[in-house]
Amino acid sequence: MSEHPPRGFPPRTASYEADPEHVHRVLLLYSGGLDTSVMLKWIQESYDAKVVCLTVNLGQPGEDYEVIRAKALELGALDCHVVDAREEFAREYITPAIKANALYGGGYPLFTALGRPLIAKLAVEHARRSGCDTIAHGCTGKGNDQVRIEATVATLAPELKTIAPVRSWQMGREEEIAYAREHGIPIKTFSGQSGSGTVPYSIDDNLWGRSSEGRWIEDLEHAPEEDVFQLVTPPEQAPDKHQTVQVEFERGVPVGLDGERLELVELLERAAEIGARHGVGIVDHIEDRIVGLKVRDIYEAPAAAIILPAHRELEQLVGTIHQNQFKPQLDRQWAYLVYAGLWWEPLRCDLDVYMDSVNEQVTGTIGVKLYRGGARIVTRSSPNAVYDASLASFAQSGGLFSQTASPGFIELFSLQSRMAWRLRNRS
Ligand code: ARG
Repeated sequence: MSEHPPRGFPPRTASYEADPEHVHRVLLLYSGGLDTSVMLKWIQESYDAKVVCLTVNLGQPGEDYEVIRAKALELGALDCHVVDAREEFAREYITPAIKANALYGGGYPLFTALGRPLIAKLAVEHARRSGCDTIAHGCTGKGNDQVRIEATVATLAPELKTIAPVRSWQMGREEEIAYAREHGIPIKTFSGQSGSGTVPYSIDDNLWGRSSEGRWIEDLEHAPEEDVFQLVTPPEQAPDKHQTVQVEFERGVPVGLDGERLELVELLERAAEIGARHGVGIVDHIEDRIVGLKVRDIYEAPAAAIILPAHRELEQLVGTIHQNQFKPQLDRQWAYLVYAGLWWEPLRCDLDVYMDSVNEQVTGTIGVKLYRGGARIVTRSSPNAVYDASLASFAQSGGLFSQTASPGFIELFSLQSRMAWRLRNRS
């Protein structure tokens, strides 16, 4: 008998984990890669269960969904649903992130963290529709994605259970490959720069960005090797010719590029393409995961590198000093909640009400100049700018602003600070 899969299941820890005896029909979140393909066979074998697959298109470039579907069916899936969720992802997940200027840890635009609750929500819908009792995903026990998926399933569908075979089966990559060979699972050969036999990077991508983990990335002293960049042109190789892109927003939502109105998905794809060409959006990020680990990720997020700074600039132009001081605190809380997998937490919805309210005014156009890895804001215009060129000008005085009022303001505004300074410097 084969060594794989290891028999016996680890004891359950959480209430939402499936009892192996009650696993009869499983909805598997299927990507077509090694882990989920091995899972597809392994679940049928180990649980004696039927498997229905779900593959979600969030705009990951270069996927052939027909090939993925055919592979799932060939490996014994009862069915493989392919859902194009790009529109919903852009509208319901990326849009609020833009309104919240969402960056975790100062640099990560959350594309994976935004995608997981949607993928898990779709898994719940399809599991219910296909009469499944259990949802299976391919996350490991070390990452944030397990948190995001399982928190979503447990929140939206208390009647459904989850299994996470990769977390428990204790097969390493070599054993998975051996299992795949034994079970006739086609494996991609990872040729190219890395050479065959080399472990590939662990990749996750969608419309809003791409992440790479593993290999030399785990060595903090190792500077990025160029083969990791599959989306963004390394800045050194980007054209020696700048381009300024005009990003138009209505109520905080990007609606046009360079004067052309575009549907959101197309706009994000086009922004990504322009940014990628100019080498923008590379982030080499050390990150505090929610499960305690500190990990390094290489991100490529060219659309976010254009749209987020443009949005923040416009928001600050139409906001008052008080709004502009306050909102970043809420933005940070929003990013943390979403990073941490608490998409369905009511605080996130409360924060969104505030984000929407502020973004009512965020209409206008920002010019972003792209050149060899840099994205710099060069022009701004908005009907709602709290800005009056004649007031701001050095030349003018009078009207709404009286320069002669300034000394009185300074005296009162600095009063407590002056008093305190004197007290501290008495001798
Ligand atoms: N560190 C990022 C996050 O936690 C990216 C994770 C990428 N996920 C993956 N399965 N490779 O959101």
